[in-house]
Amino acid sequence: MNIKRILGYQVLDSRGRPTVAVTLTLSDGSTHTARVPSGASTGAHEAHELRDAGTPKAEEFFAGKSVYTAVANINSKIAPKLLGHSLNLAAIDGLLVEVDPTPGHQVIGANATLATSLAVAKAAAHASGKSLARYFQPEGKLLIPMPMVNILSGGAHANRSLDIQDVLVIPHAADNFAEALSWIVAIRERAASDGKSHGVTHLVADEGGLGLSFASTDDACEFVLAQIELLGLSGKVSLALDIASTQFFTDNKYSLTTSGTTYSSDAFIDEMLNLVNTYPITSIEDPFAEDDWAAWNAFSAQAPAKLQILGDDLFTTNLHRLEKGIAESSANAILIKANQNGLVTSTQRVLAHAHANDFATVVSARSGETEDSWLADLATGWRAGQIKVGSTHGAERTAKWNRLLELEATEETEFAKPFSQ
Ligand code: PGA
Ligand code: ZN
Repeated sequence: MNIKRILGYQVLDSRGRPTVAVTLTLSDGSTHTARVPSGASTGAHEAHELRDAGTPKAEEFFAGKSVYTAVANINSKIAPKLLGHSLNLAAIDGLLVEVDPTPGHQVIGANATLATSLAVAKAAAHASGKSLARYFQPEGKLLIPMPMVNILSGGAHANRSLDIQDVLVIPHAADNFAEALSWIVAIRERAASDGKSHGVTHLVADEGGLGLSFASTDDACEFVLAQIELLGLSGKVSLALDIASTQFFTDNKYSLTTSGTTYSSDAFIDEMLNLVNTYPITSIEDPFAEDDWAAWNAFSAQAPAKLQILGDDLFTTNLHRLEKGIAESSANAILIKANQNGLVTSTQRVLAHAHANDFATVVSARSGETEDSWLADLATGWRAGQIKVGSTHGAERTAKWNRLLELEATEETEFAKPFSQ
């Protein structure tokens, strides 16, 4: 079976912003479509998301955010190179690198390369008669990842109603994914109604979390812990934080808006240590800015051994940055976002390198998502162990949760154990 047609076009993500889709037609007549997500609190070292701002293709209605150039690159530069090719994903990703060998796909756009690479992966799974998860792991029990789910949103996703970006929960004592999700839904429901009765205005943020206002991160943690306790889930569900601190790091200082406090790196290390030593927090993401390596290294040396220290903007799913983090013991886990990298196989290579060096991996969605569910299959088939999708609200989020429920119901699976060192 080989590739008969590749067509790129523009669709919308969950924020109503343009993103790239590819529909690939195989010689058996089947079609395979993939859509790519887009971040809002992006790291400086991510692969290049090509948008039309400043080009003649930019349309005023999309405020420069259209992706017609990336789409044109798929149709005029990528498609001719791939037509007639058989479905070897690694070989096709290699051809995509030949089309644009610049780091981060600066020329044709990582949104163009990833949409194509994902459509090829789906087509290859079809050609081998397997689901996408099974394409990556043909034999044995599939590993359904432990979810890390957003309850409260702040930062760039919720108009900075809270300085940090996410307060999440990890249902670490659940026996299976379906049970884990039922706990999360209950916590979120309680938090939504309790938020109202406290008189705080709330919005549903970009990832479906509640955009409640809190004076401090401590207050936000206390609030979520109270919901967990009231449901009788204390000790079974722990907290996770995404500090997303690059967003409030300016002039070498961490500046919190809600409290008006400014911290040096050393003072912010103490602040973060205080948080993780006070609350049942089992994972902390981006506690320090993307290039403040010294703070990461110092924090990692002092943090509790059981804490997952997770690099998102720090690593941007980039092998070289991960290698530096491993060499310097800057963290012990990496967030894996395919669109920070630009290709399916090289994203998988970063994940494999993390596992080979005892780093935990959390496959993650973006704040701008689509109803596509490939993320659930990748997280499962790659045996990532953990997944982060946002909240349980919004069809672009439930598409992933529901796909995991489907895999658990229909395949031979086991449920991942929580992070441990
Ligand atoms: P983003 O946020 O998709 O807006 O970058 C997600 C995250 O920081 O984990
Ligand atoms: Zn993050």
